[in-house]
Amino acid sequence: MRRPIVAGNWKMHGTRADNARLIEALLAGHPDRALAECLVFPPFVYLQDVGRLVRDTPIELGAQNVCAEARGAFTGEVSASMLQDVGCRYVLVGHSERRWIYHEDDQLVARKFAAAQAKSLVPILCVGEHLWDRENGRTEEVVARQLDVVLELCGVGALESGVIAYEPMWAIGTGRTATPEQAQAVHAFIRERIAKRDAKMGESTRVLYGGSVKASNAAELFAQPDVDGGLIGGASLNAEEFLAILAACGLR
Ligand code: PGA
Repeated sequence: MRRPIVAGNWKMHGTRADNARLIEALLAGHPDRALAECLVFPPFVYLQDVGRLVRDTPIELGAQNVCAEARGAFTGEVSASMLQDVGCRYVLVGHSERRWIYHEDDQLVARKFAAAQAKSLVPILCVGEHLWDRENGRTEEVVARQLDVVLELCGVGALESGVIAYEPMWAIGTGRTATPEQAQAVHAFIRERIAKRDAKMGESTRVLYGGSVKASNAAELFAQPDVDGGLIGGASLNAEEFLAILAACGLR
């Protein structure tokens, strides 16, 4: 039985006051540990602050990015051990905004995945195709490549403490969500791809969907057999929406 995850990627939004209000409202809404794991990913500078607010609550803390190197002269970077030190349990790697805007390639993303695990953080590996890939029938090819590079470097066993998020780039922040059938097809493909290396891991790995998930479409996406929750951007900044998305896990 795969326990769903609902993760809020706050991206570069919020202030200390906004964050406190958001966490307060989320906690007041009683996020239910039994329904799903509830994670928030604030910007780096707010991790400690938000970490204090969620300590001993059902909300877990994660970071949006991590350096592939362990330490040293890497101005502006943040290491996995630093994230661990301030209370993170999770970290996003390979978010499409990192890949696309900051030119992170598959190799770098795989090294970030490994660096996170070396410090006992759980990496959430984001994969997903551009619209032009989908229109040219290359979705599976792109997703397979992004996944395989990590499996080659880290071994399929690394998924024991790793999560995958399928996020079609054309659906991120666009209001255009993959249909439940489109999401399910790619999730099943990812699971099969992992299962080819290790059947048990294929079955147990959690695969989240991300891309314009909101309260109104979460239930039908989460109802798909291979969708194990969501990575939520815009809608995670609104407590009511985010709690409703979390509650949709109970309808699966
Ligand atoms: P969105 O973002 O929900 O705003 O589309 C999802 C993501 O980028 O993780």
